[in-house]
Amino acid sequence: MGTKTKFLRQFFKDRQMVGAVAPSTRFLAEKMLKNVDFENSKIIIELGPGNGVFTEILLERMAPDAKLYVFELNDEFYKHISERIDDPRAQIIHDSAENISKYVEKPGSADAVISSLPLMVFPEELRANVVNAAHKSLHKKGKYIQFQYSLQSKRYLEGIFKDVNIQFTIRNLPPAFVYTCQK
Ligand SMILES: C[S@@+](CC[C@H](N)C(=O)[O-])C[C@H]1O[C@@H](n2cnc3c(N)ncnc32)[C@H](O)[C@@H]1O
Repeated sequence: MGTKTKFLRQFFKDRQMVGAVAPSTRFLAEKMLKNVDFENSKIIIELGPGNGVFTEILLERMAPDAKLYVFELNDEFYKHISERIDDPRAQIIHDSAENISKYVEKPGSADAVISSLPLMVFPEELRANVVNAAHKSLHKKGKYIQFQYSLQSKRYLEGIFKDVNIQFTIRNLPPAFVYTCQK
């Protein structure tokens, strides 16, 4: 079964968790990751890797002594990404993004959080727990980078982060907004 079919299957199994019908394109990944200062980043957290389209690029660009924590809750995606990624810098975690502090023990130590989570389809409590956990994990100049298919998250993220910059790409299915949030 192809990657896209597998992805669609997971969407039909649990729409709220997966939140997209297809994996992101390389264009969207590039747009998200160009806002990361890889040279000076020692701890990066990825939330919701799915098939690992962002994970592979993150590992290509990260410094040799940097560490990547990857949180994936879906059983099939977790299995897939654990088999696909073989890099001592990456820790693939089968747990919810709400539980960042269980694994990244020092609060305020992360340089960037890259999130593909379908935030606005999450129940309110889960959304708040995830975004607050991400915010707490970042150091004072850290960035939370999130894509969404609408501008619905703007006000929500502006209520939590100091500055929110939004970019758009049509080269994804569906077209997407990239939110780059400064702690
Ligand atoms: C929209 S998909 C994005 C997948 C991939 N990053 C991409 O862009 O193609 C959302 C991903 O978030 C995962 N996810 C949903 N809720 C989660 C949670 N609470 N903690 C960790 N991962 C979660 C889903 O299983 C899925 O892999």
